[in-house]
Amino acid sequence: MSIEFQENISLKPYNSFGFDVSARYFAVLEDAGQLPAIRDFIARTKLPVLFVGGGSNLVLTADLNQLVVLNRIQGLQMQDQADGTVSVTAGAGEEWHAFVRWTLEQGGYGLENLSLIPGTVGAAPIQNIGAYGVELKDCMSFLDAFDLETGESVVFTADECQFGYRDSLFKTRFPGRYLITAVTFTLSREFNPVLHYGGIEAQLKARHIHSPEPLQLSDLISDIRQAKLPQPAQLGNAGSFFKNPVLPAAKVEQLKADYPEMVVFADRPGYCKLAAGWLIDRQGWKGFRQGDAGVYSQQALVLVNYGAASGMDIIELAGAIQADVYQQFGIMLEIEPRCYP
Ligand code: EPU
Repeated sequence: MSIEFQENISLKPYNSFGFDVSARYFAVLEDAGQLPAIRDFIARTKLPVLFVGGGSNLVLTADLNQLVVLNRIQGLQMQDQADGTVSVTAGAGEEWHAFVRWTLEQGGYGLENLSLIPGTVGAAPIQNIGAYGVELKDCMSFLDAFDLETGESVVFTADECQFGYRDSLFKTRFPGRYLITAVTFTLSREFNPVLHYGGIEAQLKARHIHSPEPLQLSDLISDIRQAKLPQPAQLGNAGSFFKNPVLPAAKVEQLKADYPEMVVFADRPGYCKLAAGWLIDRQGWKGFRQGDAGVYSQQALVLVNYGAASGMDIIELAGAIQADVYQQFGIMLEIEPRCYP
């Protein structure tokens, strides 16, 4: 299958912030068989490549003098295993939420708390997406990728992906080297809902639900997300703009003494995770707006584009927030989405 390389294409429809920057070259990948042609193109032009899924975790700050490839590889497969689990494989270009709903409708459980996360299946492992007490790494078994350096197809087990909190080796060690083509999950035929995370139990109670059905839980999670997070089609954003900082427990103890109402979660032994949203909110940023760049009115962790903001406007606002939080609490917030160029 041949692939077309278009020139000077606006990326506005392909990033959830809606930034109007252009790509020098642009191609849509529909089949892994097109990857050698992409590799040849890169070798010929010597331009870097950026693979984009849903574009929901991207901050584009200027025109990109590079090749941008939209990953649209489709395909869904499900197979029961001898041990009673079910193995599910999805093409990297499948839309994440539609995929989650499909698994639940087919009776494969485990991904329900990750409902309504924007983006595609192939982008999910790059930042090890997570929500409401579940992370992608809890259910992923392996992924297929194409190595642009060698031109070979490779398989990464979940262990080999070096998953961390919103992190993997694809984000940190090898950005741009591997193109994920498919992801395989091990799901359960038994429904074991994870309900402990903030907000879920209260919502179940409010709806008089004692033990939710899988699709019911997916709906409930979707409702919680919709109440807290703006829909990119209505208001440009990339979800949480900062990571929740993980600090040594002793340091958090000191902070807690000064700010008893600070929101703290348990983390790995000896460490605690702070709610960055609380730190930013405490400093009065929620609802702040400067030009068309702003802090979402319902959730201080989310930066939004009211229409004409540029990626630089958002980065500038993020810098002001980082400086303010650092000055008040001595904590440097880390930006969560990937920034280009
Ligand atoms: N909070 C405030 N003010 C705010 C925002 C939050 O005080 O403006 C407090 C809340 O009261 C709450 C705590 O901070 O007690 C945590 O807030 P929330 O439950 O909304 O979650 P979060 O820490 O802001 C994280 C993830 C989200 C994920 C939710 C639910 C990160 C960076 N963010 O947000 O992930 O959906 O938990 O699991 O880890 C994303 O990565 O893009 C994302 C949306």
